Amino acid sequence: MTTFKAIRIDKADTGTRAAYADFDESELMEGDVTVAVSHSTVNYKDGLAITCKSPVVRRFPMIPGIDFAGTVEASSNPNYKPGDQVILNGWGLGETHLGGYAKKARVKGDWLVALPKGLSAAEAMAIGTAGYTAMLAVLALERHGLTRDRGPAIVTGAAGGVGSVAIALLSKLGWQVIASTGRAEEAPYLKELGAAEIIDRGELSGPGRPLGKERWAAGVDSVGSHTLANLLTQTKYGGAIAACGLAQGMDLPASVAPFILRGVSLLGIDSVMCPQVLRRQAWERLARDLDRDKLKRITRTIPFDRVIDTAGEILAGKIRGRVVVEIG
Ligand SMILES: NC(=O)c1ccc[n+]([C@@H]2O[C@H](COP(=O)([O-])OP(=O)(O)OC[C@H]3O[C@@H](n4cnc5c(N)ncnc54)[C@H](OP(=O)(O)O)[C@@H]3O)[C@@H](O)[C@H]2O)c1
Repeated sequence: MTTFKAIRIDKADTGTRAAYADFDESELMEGDVTVAVSHSTVNYKDGLAITCKSPVVRRFPMIPGIDFAGTVEASSNPNYKPGDQVILNGWGLGETHLGGYAKKARVKGDWLVALPKGLSAAEAMAIGTAGYTAMLAVLALERHGLTRDRGPAIVTGAAGGVGSVAIALLSKLGWQVIASTGRAEEAPYLKELGAAEIIDRGELSGPGRPLGKERWAAGVDSVGSHTLANLLTQTKYGGAIAACGLAQGMDLPASVAPFILRGVSLLGIDSVMCPQVLRRQAWERLARDLDRDKLKRITRTIPFDRVIDTAGEILAGKIRGRVVVEIG
């Protein structure tokens, strides 16, 4: 029997339970590429999976971890050969397919993206699914035709993973960024990333009016609920908000007023099943447009054996920016 170290989630009498374990290689799922995982990350969804706060995991046993970077060990896929450096985000990793918190992963080669030139595996995971989602949001705003001269962009959940990368990207692209945070003490950090103005998230988190003063042309929202509704009511004529998260809630207590009276658009962002062509575009843009010094400031690195503790911290909103996990 050949085993490797992993986090394993099993069904228990009281629900589900995550623990470090020696995982039997024969239990790996089908796939045409085997990867030696070097790095993973802690995303909000990983927090939900490990703490079992939400039914993210839909197969047992499961190795959580929705993303990884590593080196191809074996491949029968024509696009990959041993030694290639690759990254993987989503496609059900850590939910329906054994995930990234393991020394080894076996996956479909069609899910992989080659590590972009100029990015190390550690940097790619500093970006991780949160950062790649922030890029997808920026790309959606650009496809909508929005440019920095139309007015400021607002980023909610600003000190979190998606928020931190979104601020760094938008400010590098010349946008005036308004950062909404519940952590006033993170104002210097958010300004370093490029935020021009900081607002308290309490301004946006309660029930609002159908229309408010027009304040921003664009937005990246990782919070949902009343916050997203209030973002829409204060978006300038013809502007758009890219919605990607639910840190406040999954509901959207909104009216149609911003859509039918101001031509505002709500752009949905999904990173999990996102087509490969858009993923590659996002990763190329990240390699080009994300300031590496800012990425360093956003990132904290932890050893593999700290992941389970960190999962609780991210759900409690205590993590600033991104957490990279050293696996290999
Ligand atoms: N659509 C997709 O494919 C996709 C991909 C990645 C992530 N997501 C989602 O995006 C969200 C953010 O992910 P992440 O990895 O960036 O998580 P994160 O690092 O935990 O960031 C979330 C941030 O939201 C804010 N927040 C937390 N609780 C809140 C509340 N009750 N009300 C208002 N704001 C609150 C906090 O920012 P402040 O402390 O600055 O207020 C927190 O740092 C999650 O919901 C995640 O599931 C979706």
